[in-house]
Amino acid sequence: MITHLQFLLCILPILLATTSATTASAVMFSGSEEDLYAEILRDEAVARLNQLGKVSDADGYLERTFMSPASVRASNLIRSWMEDAGLTTWVDHMGNVHGRVEGLNAGAEALLIGSHLDTVVDAGIFDGSLGIISAISALKVLKSNGTLTNLKRPVEVIAFSDEEGVRFQSTFLGSAAVAGILPVSGLQISDKSGVNVQDALKENSIAITEESLFQLKYDPRTVWGYIEVHIEQGPVLEWVGFPLGVVKGIAGQTRLKVTVRGSQGHAGTVPMSLRQDPMAAAAELIVLVESICKNPKDFLSYDGHCDGSTVESLSNSLVCTVGEISTWPSASNVIPGQVTFTVDLRAMDDMGREAILYTLSNRMYEICERRSVSCIIERKHDANAVICDSELTSQLKFAANAALKRMTGEIQDEVPILMSGAGHDAMAMSHLTKVGMLFVRCRGGVSHSPAEHVLDDDVWAAGLAILAFLGTHM
Ligand code: GLV
Ligand code: MN
Ligand code: MN
Repeated sequence: MITHLQFLLCILPILLATTSATTASAVMFSGSEEDLYAEILRDEAVARLNQLGKVSDADGYLERTFMSPASVRASNLIRSWMEDAGLTTWVDHMGNVHGRVEGLNAGAEALLIGSHLDTVVDAGIFDGSLGIISAISALKVLKSNGTLTNLKRPVEVIAFSDEEGVRFQSTFLGSAAVAGILPVSGLQISDKSGVNVQDALKENSIAITEESLFQLKYDPRTVWGYIEVHIEQGPVLEWVGFPLGVVKGIAGQTRLKVTVRGSQGHAGTVPMSLRQDPMAAAAELIVLVESICKNPKDFLSYDGHCDGSTVESLSNSLVCTVGEISTWPSASNVIPGQVTFTVDLRAMDDMGREAILYTLSNRMYEICERRSVSCIIERKHDANAVICDSELTSQLKFAANAALKRMTGEIQDEVPILMSGAGHDAMAMSHLTKVGMLFVRCRGGVSHSPAEHVLDDDVWAAGLAILAFLGTHM
């Protein structure tokens, strides 16, 4: 998600420096396709993306949530592809799938490469899967040319079990466990049908205990760094005509669950002046969310919480979404007794996000009081903004450049550097080690939708970039 201003800030330097950006239609391939491992990095990777994209719990659209039957089928498939690439595999106590090669020095710090295998509801096939599949494909190339064992450090691909947070409203269950930031209480979070995380794992024969949760945490001294390839989920790369871009930072985010309770009653008999209607209150609360997030300047005071630069940063990056709402008992002739909705709030500035949450909550309580309904605001998820490691970022930039040069035979313009409004496992992994990310262009900037699309050749470019990155660890 990117605001117009962010978009312009991101692309202006590129536009100024770019005289002949590489457009999608203008990509010409120089080396023979065999040299560029097109069969593995493009054709097979695209076939696997399509295959994984069919592994769904729903009929007619893609949905894979934490530990669902389709997630387990997806894990098995990913595991078989990891083995095909010559990796040693296992599934951990949080359902994450690991594939590892030790290389020349099993005792050296490991390079971790990952993304998530879960999806949103009615998802596209690239979000998460692209990062897992391109990493496996790049390692398969090393296996096929006999250099997999030449890696000077262990390399481990991790397909994380939960990033989207659809089932439990608490994102990063998989990567947070590996990073050691998932509290034991995280195991007791329940989904809508009352099944908690621990039970969901148990249903799949994974017995997680407090102790095994702690054992999931990687020792930071054994890890060199974490990289993640992901579809951009925004329009910038397409706009500037580049297949790949590197990520400078990821916006912080908070998810709220708001419950509004009023007086349930008969739609025909309760006079308007005597109602305590949680639906009308929720509508006012939702419009308040939109107003504050559209014009934070009008709602924040320049006191101890917020200085001018915070307000400026919020004006450029704050985005808020109410994506889910439910009402009880949900019938056309009943004034509801309760309405529940979610708020997803993101910004680059963590202090600013806190200031917005403070203002938003106060104003919400005022509205509920005026309307004589009760209002509970729960914070379901928080993640601070992350700045990617500068060394990893320049290595990824070099790898992306090398990949594009191999494909086109030309020296490329500077690879774009972007901010991410979307959340990624890299956010959780930044608590364990240095992180870097590479974005891959997607059609129309569309994601979290079945219309999500990445060109086959851009999948190839992503695989080549990981291959070039691995080359620096030979
Ligand atoms: C994950 O896709 C998120 O940003 O919500
Ligand atoms: Mn997503
Ligand atoms: Mn994702």
